[in-house]
Amino acid sequence: MDLLVVGAGLFGLTVAERAAEAGLRVTVVDRRDHLGGNAWSSVDEATGIEVHRYGSHIFHTSNERVWRYVRRFTAFTDYRHHVFSTHAGTVYPLPINLGTLNQFFGTAMGPDAARALVAEHAAEVDAATAANLEEKAVSLIGRPLYEAFVRGYTAKQWQTDPRELPASVISRLPVRYTYDARYFSDTYEGLPADGYGPWFEAMASHPRIDVRLGVDFLDPAQPLSKAAARGQVPIVYTGPVDRYFDHHHGPLGWRTLDLETEVLPVRDFQGTSVMNYADLDVPWTRVHEFRHFHPEREDRHAQDRTVVMRETSRAAGPDDEPYYPVATPHDRARLQEYRALAADEPGVHFGGRLGSYLYLDMHMAIASALSLWDSGVVVDAR
Ligand code: FDA
Repeated sequence: MDLLVVGAGLFGLTVAERAAEAGLRVTVVDRRDHLGGNAWSSVDEATGIEVHRYGSHIFHTSNERVWRYVRRFTAFTDYRHHVFSTHAGTVYPLPINLGTLNQFFGTAMGPDAARALVAEHAAEVDAATAANLEEKAVSLIGRPLYEAFVRGYTAKQWQTDPRELPASVISRLPVRYTYDARYFSDTYEGLPADGYGPWFEAMASHPRIDVRLGVDFLDPAQPLSKAAARGQVPIVYTGPVDRYFDHHHGPLGWRTLDLETEVLPVRDFQGTSVMNYADLDVPWTRVHEFRHFHPEREDRHAQDRTVVMRETSRAAGPDDEPYYPVATPHDRARLQEYRALAADEPGVHFGGRLGSYLYLDMHMAIASALSLWDSGVVVDAR
């Protein structure tokens, strides 16, 4: 073995594939029983519907190199993501755009009039003096839109009143003064045509890559553990940086998700892939309905049942899956301490969303892994 990659998510798989292509013998370990980390999906046998097991994943990028790279392993459909939000018994398109504004205010405004109205509402609070998330949001989009689309959703995401959350949690709230309701504005977007599983299997299929699933690198009883491999072989580690150091400086804060999947006895539950619930009277933040990601597969989907996933959000405990970094100033100070420890680890490179304690979209994880590989440090460590 020339390189040990911990984590078979997109960051780890990208480094492994590049290294194998360059002639290295790579072992990839993951404590889960599947490839692809949080982007993993599998087909529900009963309905033929591909279910994204860790929440909806839509691939999007404007990075030409990443787009060229990923298409070596899979083709993409022409799916374009749209999100809707239910508020007070009405459904609105998100992100907030001219359609949302005219529907919400019962108007037929053009872009200039809408911009002027939002600016008038936003003038209630000066962004520079905003003392909490609520004041910051009002300073960006005004109180009526904040109360409809941000207050309840944010309170559910954080399980905290937005007046108790720091203003720094949001830097911008996008409002589009056109009828463009596409959720992502990247150049390229789509879903892997044959599903996420075949994409990840193609990345891991290089003959010089050996994948071992169900292996926890931090379990000293494993033959491929940190205790056995550290200092013996170059390591790319994509697990949580605080866990690697046994929480030496204390745990970093994460939010986790509770994802409840259900097969419903209807063909189509909500008519779209993702519906947000903005109000506090509905406990979940979103409902995902997976059949809508692949309209081209309708002949393979059950016609009398559908798969939905209700998503709720809360602070992660020690045994929960970490999903989103909380990144309070306290967390960021701790992260610097962990980064200092990481810099001194012999031949170990930390990366990916857990290893760097950063929210990364899939294309960002891939771009960051390609940069790590290009930098040469992984090979130099041999
Ligand atoms: P990832 O978490 O995928 O992989 C890390 C792997 O390391 C995991 O498989 C884990 O099991 C393994 N590991 C950890 N500790 C270990 C240990 N001790 N031993 C062995 N293995 C260990 N992005 C996007 O582009 N479009 C989208 O629509 C979405 N949607 C989305 C929804 C939700 C709810 C979330 C939380 C995230 C997204 N993302 C997304 C982001 C996407 O999930 C993210 O970009 C990738 O998961 C990043 O890949 P990584 O390899 O960095 O981490």
